[in-house]
Amino acid sequence: GRRVRVHHLREMKERGEAWPMLTAYDTYTAKIFDDAGIPVLLVGDSAANTVYGYESSLPVSVEEMLPLVRAVTRSVSRALVVADLPFGSYQASPEQAFGTAARMMKEGRAHAVKLEGGRRFAPQVEALTAAGIPVMGHIGFTPQSEHGLGGYRVQGRGDGVEALIADALALQEAGAFAVVLEMVPAEAAKRVTSELRIPTVGIGAGPGCDAQVLVWQDMAGLNQGRSPRFVKRYADLASVLSEAAGAFAADVRGGSFPAEEHSFR
Ligand code: KIV
Ligand code: NA
Repeated sequence: GRRVRVHHLREMKERGEAWPMLTAYDTYTAKIFDDAGIPVLLVGDSAANTVYGYESSLPVSVEEMLPLVRAVTRSVSRALVVADLPFGSYQASPEQAFGTAARMMKEGRAHAVKLEGGRRFAPQVEALTAAGIPVMGHIGFTPQSEHGLGGYRVQGRGDGVEALIADALALQEAGAFAVVLEMVPAEAAKRVTSELRIPTVGIGAGPGCDAQVLVWQDMAGLNQGRSPRFVKRYADLASVLSEAAGAFAADVRGGSFPAEEHSFR
């Protein structure tokens, strides 16, 4: 099939077609999601949690992200692959943002990058866009600002919706091709979505967004921990894998694996 390009996402918004996005961090899942027709894959800095086992997204580095980005881009033939810029790798200046984004494009072969923040980061978005790097914005609850925001909480309640719209419009004006809305009231997300020409991608932002994203291990039930309210589990992979590992262990201990058909004469 044809490669997904940023203009296809805008066209889907114009046609009112909702589209799905999932995270991916390795070759098998990237290939499965690409073949399943997921048009956009995000190598999220959620890799901090889902791949590296950190307690938040803050510690993950560009060096830790790059091999995952490269693995995913190497494995897809159709999906647009977006690489998250980690905390500390773009906030200082547009120049710093460009340096990091260029590495994601050159070394990771990403097709686009994502960064967190609204109006204050429009200069970064503008610099990358001018250099030909498509940028996805991310506003509402932004996990890299967890400590500044006072923990995991819904953003854009009450008057906050005006600030959310101003941030979204500034990102669009700066050239962003889409914007993630995380943990905002459904009504606010719907308003932002109707104000923008570019697609909104919701996570905990209700059904009024143009697209929806989930972390794949949450979506497939590989994450055994408590999930936030906005997660829907479509499989129970943790149980499937746990049972498979248990059965393998029992076979080895009981001497029934390997059998003759697994052995060479
Ligand atoms: O890092 C991530 O997985 C994300 C998505 C949840 C939007 O930023
Ligand atoms: Na992220």
